[in-house]
Amino acid sequence: MGKINVLSTQVANLIAAGEVVDRPASVVKELMENSIDAHAKKITVEIKNGGVSYIRVSDDGSGIAPEDMPLALKRHATSKIEKAADLAAIFTLGFRGEALAAISSVSKVRILSKTQDAPNGTMLFADGGEIVEVRETGCPNGTTITVEELFANVPARRKFLKKDATEAAAVCAAVEKVALSHPEIAFRLISDGNIKLESAGDGKLDHAIYSILGKDFAKRLLQVKCHSDGVDVYGYIGRSDNVKPTRNFQNFFINHRYVKSRTAMAALEQAYSSYIAPEKFPSCVLFIDIHPGAVDVNVHPAKLEVKFSNEKLIFDTVYYAVRSTIEKNIDRPDLILCSPSPAATHSTLNAFVPVMDRAERQSSMPEQARFDRQGQIAFASSVSDQFRERVRREWNADAEQASPVRESAPIEAPKFAPQIDVSIPQVPVYTAPAVEEPKAETAEISLPEYKIVGVAFHTYIFVETEGKVVIIDKHAAHERILFETLRGKLRGFSPAPQMLLVPITVGLSQSDFNAVAEHSDSFREVGFDFDLDHTQRQVKLIQIPSALKISDVEDVFSTMADRLADGTGNVEITKQDAYEKALYQASCKAAMKGGRSDSEADMRFVVEKILTIPDITVCPHGRPVVINLSKHDLDKQFGRE
Ligand SMILES: Nc1ncnc2c1ncn2[C@@H]1O[C@H](COP(=O)(O)OP(=O)(O)O)[C@@H](O)[C@H]1O
Ligand SMILES: [Mg+2]
Repeated sequence: MGKINVLSTQVANLIAAGEVVDRPASVVKELMENSIDAHAKKITVEIKNGGVSYIRVSDDGSGIAPEDMPLALKRHATSKIEKAADLAAIFTLGFRGEALAAISSVSKVRILSKTQDAPNGTMLFADGGEIVEVRETGCPNGTTITVEELFANVPARRKFLKKDATEAAAVCAAVEKVALSHPEIAFRLISDGNIKLESAGDGKLDHAIYSILGKDFAKRLLQVKCHSDGVDVYGYIGRSDNVKPTRNFQNFFINHRYVKSRTAMAALEQAYSSYIAPEKFPSCVLFIDIHPGAVDVNVHPAKLEVKFSNEKLIFDTVYYAVRSTIEKNIDRPDLILCSPSPAATHSTLNAFVPVMDRAERQSSMPEQARFDRQGQIAFASSVSDQFRERVRREWNADAEQASPVRESAPIEAPKFAPQIDVSIPQVPVYTAPAVEEPKAETAEISLPEYKIVGVAFHTYIFVETEGKVVIIDKHAAHERILFETLRGKLRGFSPAPQMLLVPITVGLSQSDFNAVAEHSDSFREVGFDFDLDHTQRQVKLIQIPSALKISDVEDVFSTMADRLADGTGNVEITKQDAYEKALYQASCKAAMKGGRSDSEADMRFVVEKILTIPDITVCPHGRPVVINLSKHDLDKQFGRE
């Protein structure tokens, strides 16, 4: 007897539902996306018990016509596409016609909706996918969808839900991403009666970042704006003092859809090399706009992954947009003196509100401002930092489960020069010049009058110049000066190679090994030479770039191989990366060491370089090399003004 059964529609729907909705957060994401597709200006999400018992998403969008109401719950019923050809260029967030069918098959759903032309609204109630009631009702324009008792009829799924607080954090993470992706829509998330997130919907990305990711994050950003070959890259990236221990703060939006893109992440991270420590991750809120025909969103049921028809173009545009922004914008930090605490503790309106906070008080942020204990203004972020961290962990765990694919890209040298336009962000207190294209050389200015006041702890040089005290970390500064000198002189030339008496053997994965074989010329240009042992999948290095420390050789070589194998990289950029790493290791070795005394001539050399090359701001590990302390701030601190 045959063993194959054709499953009933109900069982098939339940299986399909599992792909689209697996927890309250994915239900909320789908409902919000429907509201966005309906051109809503205001979206409110309300959940109870982490969304497990109750979810309500209301919008002021176009609404659903009465005759469409029963259809909305059917599988593969959508108003967004009609024919196979439409899949080639998708302009909406939804298109599969699966979400409402999936959600309604695993819960009790109530839809209230009214279009602008309809005299009345319609109410539909369905339980476990079966429509129980449809009737006319009075309601405002727009749609409100309530989802109750999620997975009550799928105990296997319900068992896998986490604690309510964890589910609530995941919902919040989903709302965060969607709210960031559409600053022109006002979002509000209420969990068990408490407002967890609110965005103004005034169309300003910096305002959305401020209210969603917090003041500290928003304050330390650089604005990016770049156009190249039909790709627009814009948004904000974290300054080198806004780095994170994880990738949780990397937000990429392709055509306003939050996605995990390995290509974009790799480009971002490579652009930061030599500006942040290798174990840290850069943060960003970056939008990539591209013609919908050049990106395939139909790769994953939750649409978290995308494929580009030209991955390399995306890599290059993101890389150059980010790199040139960093190179042109990294500034020397000012030392902000804290208010003396006795005066501050009893008064909320004391005179010591730092300049920066005062500026923020005047800013037009829509958030409710409050004063903290120090009398400094802080913007009431409805989500605590702890909650935020949890939200981010949640989201990450979620996204990891979605197992991002390794995307491959055709690799070739860059052959375009993107037009870069970097302007000043509105909220962050940070100024930057406008630039046209990536920097090639570090510019020098004339040496101002200066006086070395002294050296503290054999480490920090205090220099008085032009109304401020400049505090220089002599090792970090010297290291960067040497690095820039080497880079400036040697750019375009092969670094001198160093023969090894005893070869170094590097074991590689098959794909990394293949990348070495394929790009062996690139490795040789950087200064490596080697024999390939195909049977053992090993590389025997017989020559390395002279600047490289023996202990770092394996790491630099295999990182380079990995990036090339990934296919997300770009040969030229990867080569430059490996080469720069070698240079700054050499610079670090040669630089004056903190804690040791040095000759006055050595110190003057560092001081004069620092005063004449304003581009030198961070050491190759991203630590600041110089901090400014203005006379004005000192005077204020001593009550002289
Ligand atoms: N909030 C909403 N406002 C207006 N129409 C909606 C809304 N939610 C759902 N719809 C309608 O219901 C249809 C089905 O939604 P869904 O199952 O999410 O599929 P998809 O979004 O892929 O089209 C949509 O195509 C749309 O016409
Ligand atoms: Mg949808």
